[in-house]
Amino acid sequence: MTRSEWAAPPPVGLPLPHESAALHVTGHALYTDDLGVRLQGLLHAWPVQAPHAHARITRLDPAPALAVAGVVRVLTAADVTGENDSGVKHDEPLFPSEVMYHGQAVCWVLAESLEAARLGANAVLVEYEPLPALITLTEAIAAESFQGAQPTVCRGIVSLGFQEAKHVYEGEFEFGGQEHFYLETNAALAHVDESGQVFIQSSTQHPTETQEITAHVLGVPSNHVTVQCLRMGGGFGGKEMQPHGYAAVAALGAVITGRPVRLRLNRTQDITLTGKRHPFHAKWKVGFDEAGKITALEATLTSDGGWSLDLSEPVMARALCHIDNAYYIPHLEVTGRVAKTNKTSQTAFRGFGGPQGMLVIEDILGRCAPLLGLEPHDLRQRNFYQPEQATPYGQPVRHAERLQDIWDGLLRRSDFESRLADIRAFNAAQPNKKRGLAITPVKFGISFNFTSYNQAGALVHVYKDGSVLINHGGTEMGQGLHTKMLQVAAAALGLPLGCVRLAPTRTDKVPNTSATAASSGADLNGGAIKDACEQIKARLAGVAAGSLLPLIKQKVGALGIHPEDVRFENGQVFPVGHPDLGLSFKQVVHDAYHLRTQLWAAGYYRTPDLHWNREKMWGEPFKYFAYGASVSEVEVCGFTGAYNLRRVDILHDVGDSLSPLIDLGQIEGGFVQGAGWLTLEDLRWDESNGPNRGRLATQAASTYKLPSFSEMPEVFNVTLLERATESGVVYGSKAVGEPPLMLAISVREALRAACAAFGPTDRTQVLASPATPEAVYWALEAARSSVPEATP
Ligand code: MTE
Ligand code: MOS
Repeated sequence: MTRSEWAAPPPVGLPLPHESAALHVTGHALYTDDLGVRLQGLLHAWPVQAPHAHARITRLDPAPALAVAGVVRVLTAADVTGENDSGVKHDEPLFPSEVMYHGQAVCWVLAESLEAARLGANAVLVEYEPLPALITLTEAIAAESFQGAQPTVCRGIVSLGFQEAKHVYEGEFEFGGQEHFYLETNAALAHVDESGQVFIQSSTQHPTETQEITAHVLGVPSNHVTVQCLRMGGGFGGKEMQPHGYAAVAALGAVITGRPVRLRLNRTQDITLTGKRHPFHAKWKVGFDEAGKITALEATLTSDGGWSLDLSEPVMARALCHIDNAYYIPHLEVTGRVAKTNKTSQTAFRGFGGPQGMLVIEDILGRCAPLLGLEPHDLRQRNFYQPEQATPYGQPVRHAERLQDIWDGLLRRSDFESRLADIRAFNAAQPNKKRGLAITPVKFGISFNFTSYNQAGALVHVYKDGSVLINHGGTEMGQGLHTKMLQVAAAALGLPLGCVRLAPTRTDKVPNTSATAASSGADLNGGAIKDACEQIKARLAGVAAGSLLPLIKQKVGALGIHPEDVRFENGQVFPVGHPDLGLSFKQVVHDAYHLRTQLWAAGYYRTPDLHWNREKMWGEPFKYFAYGASVSEVEVCGFTGAYNLRRVDILHDVGDSLSPLIDLGQIEGGFVQGAGWLTLEDLRWDESNGPNRGRLATQAASTYKLPSFSEMPEVFNVTLLERATESGVVYGSKAVGEPPLMLAISVREALRAACAAFGPTDRTQVLASPATPEAVYWALEAARSSVPEATP
């Protein structure tokens, strides 16, 4: 079958702009915090943040705050009518008696204005008894301060693998986390409506969980609380679990005062209160045979989970499931553990542990290649999964041949070999600047590791005039999910895009939703919308077969038409093969209504064929893998360590794209965000024993360097893999949200190559992460000052 026969009906597959693009760029798109002005008597919330990393609260007196003009109420633990906890693990007191990290909110002030709330918060009297705090991962490991499960992925017998090895290397690698820095900070707006329902607008990726947590803080059943998310100004995983507590505070305030409450963190509050990507420490031992094939890998990964568990366990599970990346490792034993420190509770961030797992193996390969006398790109491709092989956790690597296809295609497109030769010549001629070129692969598992989350619902209404309104359980955070869902509904009903409208995500329309996360938003909600549309279409086809009967008898002389032979295309409904005998969709809907046909449907989708044993770390947790590869070229200055990204080439597999322009944006954005994590963004906490111990030192864009236009690659070529139909996923597409972030590992490897070029070949080049200009300087300085012979 050719691709055209498979091709999805339009508007699926068309390169359309984001459904809110015009609103975004004109400033007309509304976000949670824009909605407060519509409410009468709005109160503003401001937190009292603790100035200690770890302390017991010995006294909390709100009285002085209540004396401040405009202050209406100070919310404390005494106000909680349900459970005083905002986590799913019940380890996150909402109003704590013991402060667990610097900046933690101990109570919230509600006032007539934001300024009054701020002044009120300053006036609250809090006394603390400071306690010893663990800030660094090293301190936590030494103190054996861990939380949650310590799972192990295991295959084969590593000792056997090391016996088979010709070369065995060991090392350690500690690397940094990342601040989400979404443009919209966390926000919640709550009021009690005319029916007594608590209605919360929240910047949440997981409205259902925000609803559940709020309900248990209020001590009411879930059916008393509705959560809506219109859109977010970026989530990146940072709004998967972090928004619940803020929604609960706003809801509690609204219930207690009877007035709407608005809570929006300012940037300083957001960055000091909310969790970030987990920093990791890895200790590893690896074996290679004489051909450079990995025989065994033994490793312990320790993540810095911060003060509470949050999503740290599933993040670690995904890290363990991605330490293999694209490589077959016959004997493997990798254990993960989550350190407990007195810092923000680290959480989901694009890739969800996958990037951390992959970075470990890519760092190992980058470090070991020169010791094995192999080019890094050669070493990598020698270890690729082959068809029929399975991951260490037991999942067959379906379409493994795509790794080699993408690799070969990208080497060709990027002119890799000849540029490598040019760069060698450049480096030989230039003592004070060096270039580096690197290619790295990505294999990323799609589906939630937690099997139950792989379900979704949708609600599709066709109104009597033929217009369509869709609801689904996914949230929009800029990734283009809503655009794709409009395309899916229009394609499934055979309508032009303009006939379909999308209503905001809310828990009273589609209940029990999963977080919009794990890149699976389009797979899951698209499946549910398609299901709903097909139910409606089947009913309409029956009606249309009857309506078309006179026409078909008269003009074609046929006896009738089977409902399965009714086609829906571009707003027309016609017998297969006779587009000229069409009725309008509107006419068919009209007839259907009068024949008393249900014109709306609830759709449902559950990803088939998944199973996962969390204790044994074994099973098939993923529906499929997303593949990709990238080539990056950098130039490094030998005096300063400053560098620029000269050119990037990406070849990435999104299956048959639902929306190519959206996917392109996801790939570019994900890559740049990954490059930020690996090369610029450096979170620093005060590790001293001074009075600010545990305080986040990088609290703003002035000290926390984000990628901007000046860091964009000078040449940036992104290509989608062709002939990549993924069977069993909505219109043959693949998820795209997270995998491209890990393509940025090639930037780091290119920097490693450039640093190494300052010294003799055959030595291992260590590079810190993030590879900031300072870190790059020390790396190239190590190269420059090393003696010209191999060092282990
Ligand atoms: N793209 C934009 N513009 N903004 C975001 O917040 N989040 C990423 C990714 N792309 C994000 C984004 C993350 S972490 C995930 S899991 C996916 O989008 C979620 O959306 P999806 O499942 O619809 O792909
Ligand atoms: Mo994305 S980290 O799964 O929200």
